[in-house]
Parts: sequence; C-alpha cells; structure tokens
Amino acid sequence: MNILITGGAGFIGSNHVRLLLSESGDRVVNLDLLTYAGNLENLAGLEDDPRYRFVRGDIGDRDLVRQILKDENIDAIVHFAAESHVDRSLEGPEVFVRTNILGTEILLEEARRAEVDRFVMVSTDEVYGSLGDHGMFTEKTPLAPNSPYAASKASADLMCRSFYKTFGFPVIITRCSNNYGPFQFPEKLIPLMIANALEEKQLPVYGDGMNVRDWLFVGDHCRAVDLVMRKGRPGDVYNIGGCNEMKNLELVQLLVDKLGKSRDLISFVTDRPGHDLRYAIDAEKIMTELGWAPTVDFSSGLDQTVSWYLENRQWWEKIRTGEYKSYYDKMYGRGGRLGSSGKGKP
Ligand code: NAD
Ligand code: TYD
Repeated sequence: MNILITGGAGFIGSNHVRLLLSESGDRVVNLDLLTYAGNLENLAGLEDDPRYRFVRGDIGDRDLVRQILKDENIDAIVHFAAESHVDRSLEGPEVFVRTNILGTEILLEEARRAEVDRFVMVSTDEVYGSLGDHGMFTEKTPLAPNSPYAASKASADLMCRSFYKTFGFPVIITRCSNNYGPFQFPEKLIPLMIANALEEKQLPVYGDGMNVRDWLFVGDHCRAVDLVMRKGRPGDVYNIGGCNEMKNLELVQLLVDKLGKSRDLISFVTDRPGHDLRYAIDAEKIMTELGWAPTVDFSSGLDQTVSWYLENRQWWEKIRTGEYKSYYDKMYGRGGRLGSSGKGKP
C-alpha cells in the first residue's frame, strides 16, 4: 500500500512513520511543512529507506497535494498535520483555522478527486469539550469544543463527516486522549516539566493543578490509528484512550519524584482561560470491534519517556534555545500571561 502521512515530522506523526516502516511493508510519503513543531531530527536514520519519501510542503497547497496523490499513487491518507497546542490557539487562532480546517478540506477534496481508498482523520477528545467529575466521552457525545484549537479540530471532523455523508468518501475519524512519549515537543505538559526539572527551573502548573487528563503512550495511539486505517468502518468515529486519568498536579509531582528533584520547583501560575476540567475516553468500541488495547502501562511509559528525554538532551536543548525560547519567555516570563503567581498553594 502507498500511504500518505501528513504531519509526519511532528510528535505522533514521526512515531507513526517509524511504526509503518518497521512493521509493515507499505511505502510511506510524508508531507510536512516543518513549522516550529516539525523536526526532521525526529526521523533521523530513515532518509535512505527506499520505502520512504519526505516532501516539505503545506497541506493547504492544492497543487502540491494533487501532484503527490497522482505521482505516488496514494491508497490511503493518515492525516496528522495540524497546529496542535491549545495555548498557542489562544494567542493566534488564525493559523489553526488555516491549517486545521482549510488544510483538511483541501486534502479531502483532492483525495476524493484522486479516489483515495481510505482517509483517516486524526482528531482529539478535546472536540467533546469538558467533563465534570463523572462520566466519559463516547463516540456519541455531542461536540462542544471550548478552545480555538478544539473548535478547529471539531470543524475538520464535521467536514470529514460531510464528505462521507454527501459523497460516500471513505473517511474514518479517530479521537484520542492526551499522548506522551519520545519526540513530544517540549511545550506540552510532560516534556516541558521534565526539561524544566532537569534544568532546575520552575514547574508552571496552571490554576490549582486539579485538571484531569487521560494519558496514552504514543506507540499505543499509533497502533490504534493503523488498525483503524486497515480495519475500521468508513464513516465511523473511533475513540482511543488509555483509561488512565490523572490530575495535573499529581502527574507533575510524580515526574519530579522520578527525576529526584525537589517539589519546591512546582509553581502555580495563572490558569489557562477556558481550561477544560477533565477529559476521559471510553474506548470500548475500538477495543471490542477492532481488538485494540493499550500495551504500555502508565508507570513504565513514563519511565521510558523520562529515560528518552535524559538520553536525548541535545534534541530538546536545541529546541529550547532556538525559536521556541522567545515563545516561552513571552508566555511564562515576567508580565507574560502565564507568569508565575507565586510558589506553594494556588
Ligand atoms: P505536533 O504539533 O507535534 O506536529 C504537527 C506536525 O504537523 C508538525 O510536524 C508540523 O510541521 C506539521 N504541520 C503543521 N501545519 C502544517 C501544514 N499546514 N502542512 C503540513 N504540515 C503541517 O502535533 P502532534 O502532537 O504530533 O499531533 C498530531 C495530530 O494528532 C494532530 O492532528 C493533533 O490534533 C492530534 N492529536 C494530538 C494529541 C496529543 O496529545 N498530542 C492527542 C490527540 C490528537
Ligand atoms: P497540554 O500538554 O498543553 O495538553 P492539552 O491542553 O491539549 O490537554 O496540557 C495538559 C494539561 O496540563 C492541561 O490541563 C494544561 C496543563 N498544563 C500546565 O499546567 N502547565 C503547563 O505549562 C502546560 C503546558 C500545561
């Protein structure tokens, strides 16, 4: 099979490219714009693989997309490319609309035109909005996105739905909970906390740290997406989650303890506006219908992740001293929206 991966130089996309090249006989074309989040170092060692081709470009570039689909005779698209960080979507939503909504729409149109057999839209549980203390998101939970990021992903999901309903185009949507693991850009909670702790910097916990996320190891997400691509039912939605809820503060404390650092580094900062309280995924459908189950438990997944960041210090140091530094200083520095509100209790 010839598979087009979009966003394959990002966190989950690069893990997915590696999975496909190591465990399937498929050919992989990776279309990625290399935004601040895209990094070819995530794919180091694959350059000479004859089954792999990288194309730098925008999913919103219709002519380029058309050319790739034709030249490479693409059978399936797995669409990861996106602006993916909630905090950035609060600062500048426009690029989220451009990439996540318009980019997806252009891919859909060109894929339909080229009669691609499968289109997997990699979406997120954030499209469902926020849960209170009880309950879980199922595939039937109404969409109620709260951040511009989540709204852009929900819009893309609806565009996918319309292509299935109107044209019978074989789109499948996956909605996954928070991922963690190697190659995650250090703006996201887990790698940010690991890197800050290793550098003895403050660990900025938003609000009171009682928000809950449902964590899944990235490799388990990739296996689920691959299964959906091969065996999923066109037009369907599949939730993917780790059944592994944790409060942010508890998670940060766990990381600090694993790293042997002081909990005094933890600092409560101004809460994220519209901060969703809790996410929890009911993954019953993909487990019973497709036989998927997470294979990495949270404790060993976190150990693997911490080891990876310890062993790949130059990977994240390079990012943190480059372009990303000005974002961090703007957001978390003195006068920034997330500037420290003091240590200890929120
Ligand atoms: P990421 O930010 O690490 O990577 C995104 C990639 O997309 C980067 O390589 C970037 O260069 C590329 N990209 C951005 N705009 C592009 C464009 N216009 N054209 C081509 N490439 C472009 O993101 P991630 O965490 O790997 O997430 C991947 C996908 O999974 C996203 O669609 C995200 O919404 C979804 N998702 C992520 C999580 C999570 O916890 N990270 C959870 C559920 C779903
Ligand atoms: P994040 O990794 O940005 O993922 P998402 O917002 O998509 O769930 O954040 C995970 C949780 O951690 C979320 O509740 C916000 C919180 N958080 C902090 O407390 N401090 C931080 O510096 C960051 C980046 C996130």
